[in-house]
Amino acid sequence: MTQIPEQMTAVLLESYEGATGLRVVQRPVPQPGPQDVLIQVAAAPINPSDLSFLQGRYGFQKTLPTIPGFEGSGTVVAVGRETGLMGRFLLGRRVACVTQQHGEGLWAEYAVTSVNYALPLAGAVSLEQGAMSVVNPLTAVALIDSAKKGGHKAVLNTAGASALGLMLHRLGQQEGIEVINIVRQAEQVTQLKQQGMRTVLNSSSATFAEELSDLCHGQKIRLAFDAIAGETPQRLLAAMPDHSRVTVYGNLAQKDVALNPGGLIFQDKSVDGFWLTRWVGQKNFLQSLLMWRRAQTLLLSALKTEVRARYPLAQAPQAVAEYEAAMSGGKVLLVMGE
Ligand SMILES: NC(=O)c1ccc[n+]([C@@H]2O[C@H](COP(=O)([O-])OP(=O)(O)OC[C@H]3O[C@@H](n4cnc5c(N)ncnc54)[C@H](OP(=O)(O)O)[C@@H]3O)[C@@H](O)[C@H]2O)c1
Repeated sequence: MTQIPEQMTAVLLESYEGATGLRVVQRPVPQPGPQDVLIQVAAAPINPSDLSFLQGRYGFQKTLPTIPGFEGSGTVVAVGRETGLMGRFLLGRRVACVTQQHGEGLWAEYAVTSVNYALPLAGAVSLEQGAMSVVNPLTAVALIDSAKKGGHKAVLNTAGASALGLMLHRLGQQEGIEVINIVRQAEQVTQLKQQGMRTVLNSSSATFAEELSDLCHGQKIRLAFDAIAGETPQRLLAAMPDHSRVTVYGNLAQKDVALNPGGLIFQDKSVDGFWLTRWVGQKNFLQSLLMWRRAQTLLLSALKTEVRARYPLAQAPQAVAEYEAAMSGGKVLLVMGE
């Protein structure tokens, strides 16, 4: 077992001001509580949820200063005394992990999380892919499952050039559901078509509303997944037939959803929300295990994430700034020990 040092490098959020609120510091390595595990962190991506958290706009805030980072991977190096069989099983294993609402995050050399939030990685999955194996892959599984349960043959998805947009399309293909991605830049239409997508729409085009309406009425598309919020759910609903639904799962526009009540009242159109944490919380142990096993088998294919840049912890503020400036084209990863 690796020797655990007393001090570690960590990224600290000192004020809710995005990249400028971050500082790289030396801190004591945390001790796991009775039901926790201590993870030597290997890698952690920067996700849109991290950006929202850094700006104080996520679903919850923490007392500052705190270490950010909701998702990552690493090796379990110590376990709490009440972690039981699971703790003994995980000790020394490579895991994917997420952090708890009330704990600190993963942008550090070591991190503590609940034993339930450390998921063992299959041998074929690298620590790098493992670091991005929970948030987007499980969301893709959940959204495609909801489309399948609703009997939808085709669905819309916005912010379509995102890592999740690519996953949704590939997983949809496997499940017989066409995911029609909507992007906001003409060059992304070309890029996504080169990756095998038959139909990609550009929301910045002058003919977008008409094209979308023709498509939705022609193919009877009644479900859309929206990562943008603001005006977007209404733009989608306006183009969709009666009895359509938009599921909002992101707030990239950082704006409240604006809706025309007529569509809700007279055309039975609706908007709901999706949050992975809530969805996972509704699963029992067996369902979670089966879902995790299924996601792992797809991590090298449908649920794979491209990485475009890797930064050491010491350069975390630059990494966040780079990601914020251009989010498409692959994840920016913090790699510990580099
Ligand atoms: N609810 C949940 O539980 C849950 C779970 C996982 C992910 N998510 C959400 O899923 C979305 C995608 O995540 P990801 O990790 O796949 O993202 P990502 O790979 O980092 O890509 C983000 C994408 O968002 C686009 N974008 C950014 N701001 C935009 C805006 N104002 N309007 C339109 N497009 C915008 C970017 O396109 P450009 O190149 O045009 O900037 C980029 O393609 C995020 O909203 C995230 O919060 C939600």
